[in-house]
Amino acid sequence: MRDQLAKIRAEALAAFQGAETSGGLEALRVKYLGKKGELTGLLKQMGRLSPEERPQMGQLANEVRAALERALEESSKKLEAAALELRLRAEAVDVTIPGRPVSMGHQHPMNIALEELKDIFIGMGFTVMDGPEVELAELNFDRLNAEEGHPSRDWSDTFYFDEDSRVMLRSQTSPMQVRAMDTMPLPIRIVAPGRVYRKDEVDATHSPMFHQVEGMVIDKGVTMADLKGTLSAVAEKLFGQGTVTRFRPHHFPFTEPSCEMDVQCHKCGGAGCPTCKGEGWIELLGAGMVHPRVLEMSGIDPEVYSGWAFGMGLERTALRRFKIDDMRLIFENDVRFLEQF
Ligand code: DAH
Repeated sequence: MRDQLAKIRAEALAAFQGAETSGGLEALRVKYLGKKGELTGLLKQMGRLSPEERPQMGQLANEVRAALERALEESSKKLEAAALELRLRAEAVDVTIPGRPVSMGHQHPMNIALEELKDIFIGMGFTVMDGPEVELAELNFDRLNAEEGHPSRDWSDTFYFDEDSRVMLRSQTSPMQVRAMDTMPLPIRIVAPGRVYRKDEVDATHSPMFHQVEGMVIDKGVTMADLKGTLSAVAEKLFGQGTVTRFRPHHFPFTEPSCEMDVQCHKCGGAGCPTCKGEGWIELLGAGMVHPRVLEMSGIDPEVYSGWAFGMGLERTALRRFKIDDMRLIFENDVRFLEQF
């Protein structure tokens, strides 16, 4: 029995040392130290020993068991350390590798142009105003002197919400003039940018949604000279010194007299090209002296006060500002186009 114990001890120690995985080691533990293992098996035969031999063998068997358990523990620790080492190496992170660049967004060219415009007007003492896109026809038309029967009130031109044509998507930012007169003390100096909606098919120069910037000044002694001077100065600040503008007579129901302002085409410098459709000029805004009836409807005495107003197409302004020749580029939002600004 002594020999058998020595043999088990030698075999088990060698086997534990040679184990390559913790699973393998566990199998060896069961084989030698388990309930049905070799050592236990041997101890069950103790009954056959003489009473003198039994305590000696018992002690020896305990020593063997203790030795095996120590060896098992040691091998297990070694295997764990090796596995950890392997995992650390496999999962190693090189903190010195440069990070992946996060792509930064930036402003749309139309918003850049709008921000510049707002800065220019704020610098001239104007207040920036915001208002609803869902508007009352009363403010979009009636209070602006566009009576029933005016062509722009037609269902074929305007998006209405109700049968009675009372609520609509604003077709212009001009109702902001009325909102300003209704809510602000005189004198008034405002710009009001925003979206407007018309039943237009999409093409190179049309879209059912586009942007305008409305502007209005009401004070004592305001004249057409202020309108021309201010708007020409804005064009020069926005498009660069020496920008040439021209004013043409026009008609709007809410201004009298009315005009449109053009800027000389940036592509051909006035000679005529596809960008300006051969005109040499690009129409930028409608403007005029606020109609006395519009002032009266808002409770302002046209004998004391006068005013001027304008409505500028923001898409067109951005095209001119960044020398872009197709309005569809503004809406398509192709990043290859947008990245250039
Ligand atoms: N609301 C006009 C339009 O959409 C533009 C306009 C013209 C605005 C003259 C004005 C103005 O304020 O005075 O065509």
